[in-house]
Amino acid sequence: MKISASLLDASDRISSVDKLNQTGISYLHIDVMDGKMVDNIQFQDMDEIKSINNLSHFKLQIHLMVEDVSSYLDRFIGLNIESITFHLETKQDILENIQRIHDMGYRCGIAICPDTDIQDIYPYLDKIDMILLMSVIPGRGGQSFILDTKDKIIMLKNYIGKNHLSVLIEVDGGINDKTISLVKDADVAVVGSYIVKSDHYIERVNSLLD
Ligand code: DX5
Ligand code: ZN
Repeated sequence: MKISASLLDASDRISSVDKLNQTGISYLHIDVMDGKMVDNIQFQDMDEIKSINNLSHFKLQIHLMVEDVSSYLDRFIGLNIESITFHLETKQDILENIQRIHDMGYRCGIAICPDTDIQDIYPYLDKIDMILLMSVIPGRGGQSFILDTKDKIIMLKNYIGKNHLSVLIEVDGGINDKTISLVKDADVAVVGSYIVKSDHYIERVNSLLD
C-alpha cells in the first residue's frame, strides 16, 4: 500500500511539503476544486502548485474536482506529475480527456463519487491507469470514511482480475490509522487531515504503512 498525502487541509502548505519530504509517502495529492462541481474553491493559483512541485521530493497526483476538465489540463504541462484524475460525473467527453492526459505523458485516473454506480466506470477501465474511489463526498477534508467503500474495492478488484486489466485502485477520504485496514486491498490511500493536521508527520505516516 502506498500513501498519497493530500495538502488540502494543511495550515501552511509549503511548510507541510517540507515536512512530508521527510516521510515515507509516495505522492503528493493536489485537490483542485472549481466551486461548481464541488462547493469549494481550492488550488486555483498555479504559483502555489509550482512552488509545491519545486519543493516536493515526490511526484504530484492532480485530483480535478472541476466541471470544465479540458480547460484545466494545459496548465499542468511540464510539472513533475504522476497522474491527472478527473471525475466520471463531469459532462465532458471522457475519452477525449483521457487521450489528452496520456498525450501530455501523464498517467490518467477517473474518480467516482460515493453515490455513482460503480459499474458506470467499467467501460473506461481498459483505457485508464487508475480509479480514484471516493470514500467521502468530494469537497472537504476531515470527513468520516463511508463504510461501503470496502465492498466496492473488492467488487472492482474482482472485475479487474477477471478481465485481466492493469488499472490501480486508489481510495480518497476519511483514511486514518483506524480506517486504513478497510482499504488494504487498494493500491494507494490518499490521506489528508490525519497527517497534515498533526505535529508528528513521520509517526502518522508510519502508522499507516505498518
Ligand atoms: C476530498 C479530497 C480529499 C481530501 C482527503 O474532496 O478529494 O483528497 O483532501 O482528506 P481527508 O484525509 O482529511 O479526508
Ligand atoms: Zn482528493
